[in-house]
Amino acid sequence: MQTEVSSKGDVKNFGLADKGKVRIEWADSTMPVLRMIRERFADEQPLAGVKIAACLHVTTETANLVRTLKAGGASVFLCASNPLSTQDDVAAALNVHYDIPTFAIKGEDRDTYFGHIDAVLNSNPNMTMDDGNDLVTRIHQDRRELLDAIFGGTEETTTGVIRLQSMTADGALAYPIVAVNEADTKHLFDNRYGTGQSTIDGLLRATNMLLAGKRVAVAGYGWCGRGLASRLSGLGANVIVTEINPTRALEAVMDGYLAMPMEEAAKVADLIITVTGNLNVLDRRHFAVMKDGVVIANTGHFNDEINIPALESLASSRTLLRDFVEQFDVNGRKIYLLAEGRLLNLSAAEGHPAAVMDMSFANQALSAEYLQQKKAELSPGVYIVPTEIDQEIARLKLASMNIDIDVLTPEQELYINSWQSGT
Ligand code: ADE
Repeated sequence: MQTEVSSKGDVKNFGLADKGKVRIEWADSTMPVLRMIRERFADEQPLAGVKIAACLHVTTETANLVRTLKAGGASVFLCASNPLSTQDDVAAALNVHYDIPTFAIKGEDRDTYFGHIDAVLNSNPNMTMDDGNDLVTRIHQDRRELLDAIFGGTEETTTGVIRLQSMTADGALAYPIVAVNEADTKHLFDNRYGTGQSTIDGLLRATNMLLAGKRVAVAGYGWCGRGLASRLSGLGANVIVTEINPTRALEAVMDGYLAMPMEEAAKVADLIITVTGNLNVLDRRHFAVMKDGVVIANTGHFNDEINIPALESLASSRTLLRDFVEQFDVNGRKIYLLAEGRLLNLSAAEGHPAAVMDMSFANQALSAEYLQQKKAELSPGVYIVPTEIDQEIARLKLASMNIDIDVLTPEQELYINSWQSGT
C-alpha cells in the first residue's frame, strides 16, 4: 500500500484533498444542527486551548464534527476507529484544507492502525473522543502518563459504552466520559434509522442482491437490529431475529418477525447479518449447517461477531469475487463473507447519512463543551448527555425541518403535574 506522511497526518493520497472537500461540504448541507453549533462555537470559542484526540470513522460527517470542534477553539487530532471505514479523500482534505492532522488509511493493517492511535495520543490531549473505546483502552493500558492532562472524554457507540461500564465496574476508569450513545437523539435515530439504511446500502453496493423474498436472519435486536429488520422487511425480505434477551425476542415476534436460535436460523437463511456487539455469534457449528450460497455479514462495531478463523479452517479455498465479497468453499457449499466481517455499512458504503449523523455529532460537540464547562465538578465515571442538551438537539432538528409541535396549555401543565384528579 502506498501512503503519504507529512508533518501533519498520514493518509493514502494528499491529491484526493479537493474531492474530499467537495464531499465534506455536500454532507454539511444536510447537517443544519451541527452547522448552527459551529457558528455559535466560532463566536464563543468554548473549547479555546483544548487539545482533543479523536478516534472516529473518518467520513464526511466526522469531518464536519472536527471542523466544528476546531471552530470552537480546539486543536483536533484525528485517527480512524476502524481500519476499513476511512474515506481517503476526507482524510486528505482534513489535512490539506482544514489544517486538522488526520492519520487514517482505508485498509490499513493492525500495526498502522495502532500507530495512528499513538500518533494522535502523542498530541498529549486534554480530551478523548472515541467510537469503540480504542483510545481509552490504549491510554489506560499502555499510555498512563497521558492521564494527567486529560479531563474528560466522549464515547459514540454502544460497544464502547459497554466497555466503559466494565471499566467502571472494575474501578479502572480514570476520567469522566460522556456516553453520547445513550442520548435519545443519538440511538433512536443513528442506531435505528442510520444502521438500518446504511447496512442495506453496503449490502447492495457489495452484492447488488435482490432482497424481496429472501430469508434474512438478523442477529441482535437492539436499536441497530430493530432498524435493520424493519428496513429489510420493507424491501420484501422475510426476517428472522436471533436474540439472547427474552424481552427483545418477544418484541421481535410482536413486531412481526420469526424468532429462533441461530442454530436453526443458520439452516434456512439466505443472508445472515450480525449486529450484537458480542463474539462468535456465527461460529463453526453454524457454518457447518448453512445453505449453499448463503451471504454472511456483520454490522456491529468489531470484526469478531463472525468467527473468521473458524471459517478459514473449515474452508478448502477462499476467493475474492468482487470488492468486499469473498467466497469460502466449505464441504461443497459456498459461503460468501462480506467486507472481511468488518462493519458492512462503513466498509462497503459510506456509513449513516449526514442527516442522521447531524444529531449524533451535535451531541458530541455539545458534550465536549459540557465537559469543558464542568471539568472541575466531574469525577471519573460514565455520564449521560444532559436532558436539556438532548432535547435542544431534537428542537433544533425539527426547526431545521420546518416542523412545529404543540405546547402544553397552562391548564394542561397544571393537570399533568398534579395527582388529585382522576376518574
Ligand atoms: N458511524 C456510522 N455512520 C457514520 C458516519 N457516516 N460517520 C461517522 N461515524 C459513523
